[in-house]
Amino acid sequence: MRNSTETEDDIPAVLTIRRRSFGPLDPGSEAWWRAVAAEVISGRWLAVVDESDTVLGAGRARPFEQAWGGRHLAMGGVAGVYVDPAARGRGAASVLMRGLLERMAGLGDAVTCLFATAPALYRGVGYEFGGVRPRYTYAAHDLRALRALGGRLRPRPAVVADAELVHSVMRADQVRHRLCGPRLPSVPQWREQLADEQAIHYVLDGQDGGPKGFVAYSLADSTLTVTDLVGDSAPAAAALWGVVASGSSTAPTVRAYLDPRDPVALLAGAEARHEVRQQTWMLRVVDLVKAVAGRGFAPHLTASVQVRLHDPDLPANSGTWRLDVSDGSGTATRIESDVAEGPAADAPAADEPVADEPVAAEWSAGRGAAEWSAGRGATEWSAARGAVEMGPRGLAALWCGWSMSRLRQAGLAAGGGLDDDACLDAIFACTPFMTEYF
Ligand SMILES: CC(C)(COP(=O)(O)OP(=O)(O)OC[C@H]1O[C@@H](n2cnc3c(N)ncnc32)[C@H](O)[C@@H]1OP(=O)(O)O)[C@@H](O)C(=O)NCCC(=O)NCCS
Repeated sequence: MRNSTETEDDIPAVLTIRRRSFGPLDPGSEAWWRAVAAEVISGRWLAVVDESDTVLGAGRARPFEQAWGGRHLAMGGVAGVYVDPAARGRGAASVLMRGLLERMAGLGDAVTCLFATAPALYRGVGYEFGGVRPRYTYAAHDLRALRALGGRLRPRPAVVADAELVHSVMRADQVRHRLCGPRLPSVPQWREQLADEQAIHYVLDGQDGGPKGFVAYSLADSTLTVTDLVGDSAPAAAALWGVVASGSSTAPTVRAYLDPRDPVALLAGAEARHEVRQQTWMLRVVDLVKAVAGRGFAPHLTASVQVRLHDPDLPANSGTWRLDVSDGSGTATRIESDVAEGPAADAPAADEPVADEPVAAEWSAGRGAAEWSAGRGATEWSAARGAVEMGPRGLAALWCGWSMSRLRQAGLAAGGGLDDDACLDAIFACTPFMTEYF
């Protein structure tokens, strides 16, 4: 079994396997499927084939941008992973995923995400649950009441030529709020979306220096579904919510895919109904150096900590690294290559021999805040335990804000000590979310 890059010739075979995996595609969905195929056919779509070059399965990694700490990283969005039923259970999907990881690394992706229906498959190649995609439900009349806060602002229907505006409003929002997790659709993707007549889009275009914002939603079955709503001020957001919820007479329910900390929770007169549906997505770091250099960190945090990574599927990540963070930026500097990869386990057992590197952990947050400096605390543990050790699953969870103590409980981290944990928790603190499914 081996991987090969998909070509046009493979499309019928892949469509057949897709049908056998998910059932038939209706004409609208097949058009979407073919558009995605055209996007990934030039190297971001892999097949796994047998000795006679028969396609056994396929998977793609779409070229996305994702916000981390308000900065944007190249993210490979993995989806469309399926294997012919007769070829399952023999490692085909795992071979495919390893090929996709290598391909994403080669194409410059820093991280990769996916929505998993078979988490064990993805954990096997280093992904871990990272963030959520929650959907909140509001009574439309509660949101309609926000109109008053919108004052005289009157959103206008969006046209395809607003793609740049929508993209820049969304980008500015992700930067300003230092968001972690959401995708930033490209201008061409917005053009395509704005051309979709089934969807409804309004913008506030900031005329004469006024507020900017946009909303994307749809109406079906007496329900308004908001997929994106961004306003650069409370009146802008309120005016946009007011437009959506003006349909409350025929559509009493508004569902919205939102940041769990979206300010509508603070503005609306009533809380979301306790009907929150949530999907969870998984993440993996593809290129540690690039990912750390590209992510935004808390601007008042100065931190330095050593981590030893074991990443058999992407060995360029393996080794002992010093992570440094200051002035909102970070670096990962290799201290030594990994000498021996452990077994497939994600992290070494606690009683395994530890790295011989002395641990240095320096951490200070904010002026005058508590500070751990090199040596303090280290006396208790560094000589005995070495650097924090983890595999790609531990790193993925840490990247997404899981605390070190939880990672230790789950067996995804070992070594190091309490100062390292506090330092790593401060560096990676976040509550990632995404509003789109892909
Ligand atoms: C999921 C799927 C791609 C797995 O393909 P495969 O070639 O059989 O996978 P592998 O043999 O490489 O299995 C690797 C691991 O994935 C997990 N896995 C495989 N199939 C699974 C399933 N149906 N349910 C849950 N876990 C599964 C197992 O843990 C397996 O490890 P194990 O064999 O040591 O237990 C295949 O069953 C499929 O095409 N299913 C329908 C489409 C689908 O669900 N795709 C995933 C979309 S996110």
